[in-house]
Amino acid sequence: MKKIGVLTSGGDSQGMNAAVYAVVRYGIEHGMQVYLIHSGYQGLIDGKVTQADAKSVEDIIHRGGTVIQTARCPDMKTEEGQKKAVNTLKRYGIEGLVVIGGDGSFQGAKVLSTKYGVKTIGIPGTIDNDLAYTDFTLGFDSATTVVINSVQMLRDTMACNGRTCVVEVMGRHCGDIALYGGLASGAEVVIVPEVGYDIDETVARLKANAAHGKTDNIIVVAEGVCSAEKVAADVKERLPEMEIRSLTLGHIQRGGNATLQDRLLGIRMGALAVECLACGKTDRVIGIKDNAVFDDDMLEALAKTKRFNTELYRLANKLSQY
Ligand code: ADP
Ligand code: F6P
Repeated sequence: MKKIGVLTSGGDSQGMNAAVYAVVRYGIEHGMQVYLIHSGYQGLIDGKVTQADAKSVEDIIHRGGTVIQTARCPDMKTEEGQKKAVNTLKRYGIEGLVVIGGDGSFQGAKVLSTKYGVKTIGIPGTIDNDLAYTDFTLGFDSATTVVINSVQMLRDTMACNGRTCVVEVMGRHCGDIALYGGLASGAEVVIVPEVGYDIDETVARLKANAAHGKTDNIIVVAEGVCSAEKVAADVKERLPEMEIRSLTLGHIQRGGNATLQDRLLGIRMGALAVECLACGKTDRVIGIKDNAVFDDDMLEALAKTKRFNTELYRLANKLSQY
């Protein structure tokens, strides 16, 4: 394969740039011409394509966001949009495409491969960690690191005021950011969609902690459950004496430098994607299991159901008992 393209799509995530870097440099190393497709599927439809050289990806490994831009592109769900996307690939002679994105972006990749025969390789780029076939997705580690740093900062002020703070974190329908972030920052309550929200349990935990002399608490709630404001209002209704604040962390979770884990993951996944294309593989997704990167059949991988880490959830509950 002589010409390959790479795009980033959907919600950006730290580590996407590291993957783009590896696809470009490793592709060139394999004697390929590598094309950057700007602004995800929208750029593919509109023909926003430039050829990369090694310098194009200089000094990007660490950076959050994606230097080749991203987009949510409704047109890609239409036949007209898909045909335009395929025409762009034909016009540039691009034989293989690396799609870096989340579940939605992989649906687009699936359409391109199954309906139009485009050789596609998916790299999981999303902070949500919501893809079942892989232990981790690009950006999850960095976003969760933002969560734990934020909780630590909040703890300073909550502790000296004897207050409780509800922190809402991202993740769409997946509770991993809340679970890992809550556990690693010592949050007193972690609320995730996989388990559900029970205000009686939350209040019981806060009361039990108060009985042991604890005056400050952090409650981490995943956005897939409800808002921080709702949890704060529910607690206030039951415990009017409690001083409570709420905060939605929001897009700060997608910003800042990628952690070591996400840089390595991006580089390793990008390199494997190139290797797959170099030997003519198609319709594959790249993942990581037990610290080994692998490629798997796209359709089979996407059909898997995500398993919630009940062991970590149990630990989060046990360890937060004051
Ligand atoms: P993410 O990839 O982060 O999950 P989205 O769900 O927004 O983000 O999907 C990103 C893009 O992937 C969409 O804007 C659209 O262009 C494309 N996409 C999503 N679902 C499909 C689909 N069923 N068919 C074709 N393209 C899709
Ligand atoms: O899928 C990644 C994600 O950051 C989700 O966690 C969040 O719900 C969503 O994207 C936010 O989307 P937007 O950037 O379009 O506001």
